[in-house]
Amino acid sequence: MRVAVARETREGETRVAMVPELVAKLSALGHEVLVEPGAGAGALHTDEAYAAAGAVLTDDPYSDAELVCSVQPLPRDLARRLASGTVTVSFLPTAAELDLVRDYRDLGVTALAMELVPRISRAQSMDALSSQSLVSGYRCAVVCAGLLRRFLPLNMTAAGTVPPAEVVVLGAGVAGLQAIATARRLGAVVKAYDVRAAAAEEIRSMGAQAIELDLPTLDGAGGYAREMTEERAALQRELLAPYVAAADGLITTAAVPGRTAPMLVTRGMVEAMSAGSVVVDLAADSGGNVEGSVPGEVVRVGRAQVWGGRNVPAQMPEPASRLYAQNVLNLVALLSGDAGSLSLDWDDEIIAGACVTHDGVVRHEPTARLLDAPDPEGGLA
Ligand code: NAI
Repeated sequence: MRVAVARETREGETRVAMVPELVAKLSALGHEVLVEPGAGAGALHTDEAYAAAGAVLTDDPYSDAELVCSVQPLPRDLARRLASGTVTVSFLPTAAELDLVRDYRDLGVTALAMELVPRISRAQSMDALSSQSLVSGYRCAVVCAGLLRRFLPLNMTAAGTVPPAEVVVLGAGVAGLQAIATARRLGAVVKAYDVRAAAAEEIRSMGAQAIELDLPTLDGAGGYAREMTEERAALQRELLAPYVAAADGLITTAAVPGRTAPMLVTRGMVEAMSAGSVVVDLAADSGGNVEGSVPGEVVRVGRAQVWGGRNVPAQMPEPASRLYAQNVLNLVALLSGDAGSLSLDWDDEIIAGACVTHDGVVRHEPTARLLDAPDPEGGLA
């Protein structure tokens, strides 16, 4: 196959879907790799590095491509240049990208969404949600440490003892656990809370104290959390308030698939934090866990600085791209038949699960339902 590597055009996107280091592995699968000039610049990879790895640099890698990989969904004008039967591999938040999904369907493009790769053991090496959450979680802890004007570890010196900082982490999925691990490595005392039953043990295994609240756990389908009722949310906030007030650093990473982020911390809870405290809201981009957080900005609430996350993996483009590219490579390997041909096995739950459109049909049921829903103007979407 001719595999195109897109130059990302969305504002703030610094990552690239394939790194020079892995180009040779794509070639070894029998593929020709076409790279748009400048594609790797944001992640510090030069065109020369891609060429040295065996890729062909071309201003239009798309018209002839059989597979196009990118981090963000392709711009619509570019998508319209793809031939019928082309495969695209990218993040594709379908609810926000219905026009692009429609284009893909009408063009006969096979669109695979990285966030739809099922989270089964066999697909772990293709799990881009996890690889990018790992980067985000690390980044959150480092940002928190950087904004705090105090030591994280305990320091016992001849001039006296400086106590360690206390960091509270809310939401202990992949990002939250990585934030815990990083804050612990920096020496902070860490306490964490998550609504899933399995989370307390995972929190303890990272060396943090699991906050136990007198509330039922909220396990939903597929190992994810369920949405809270407003009554439960209010009670959870009330029970967490003393932990938040006592924290020097608060990191929030809570999410529920397909929903806006749960509001865990009110403005009043932040106002109760002491002078110099820091709040890092990873979920700011998807609704926010903390009232008043602004994506991409540091704002002051009470005496605290509140940092709102915005495309956080792109803040560490080199490792984020390397991990994402490895996820893409593993998925492309699954789509590769003999001598670099395209082989789509619809009995494979990874390929079937990740597919949004194929052969003129929207195969991802929830997206198909969204497309069929009447639009608010009264017409049909
Ligand atoms: P996520 O990004 O969807 O959510 C982050 C965390 O927020 C979750 O741990 C969730 O329980 C928590 N949360 C939701 N509502 C909350 C609330 N009201 N208060 C506090 N915390 C709240 O989660 P992520 O990181 O994608 O992981 C979700 C699950 O998927 C975990 O069980 C994880 O172990 C599992 N997983 C499985 C994988 C596999 O089998 N290959 C790979 C990665 C994750």
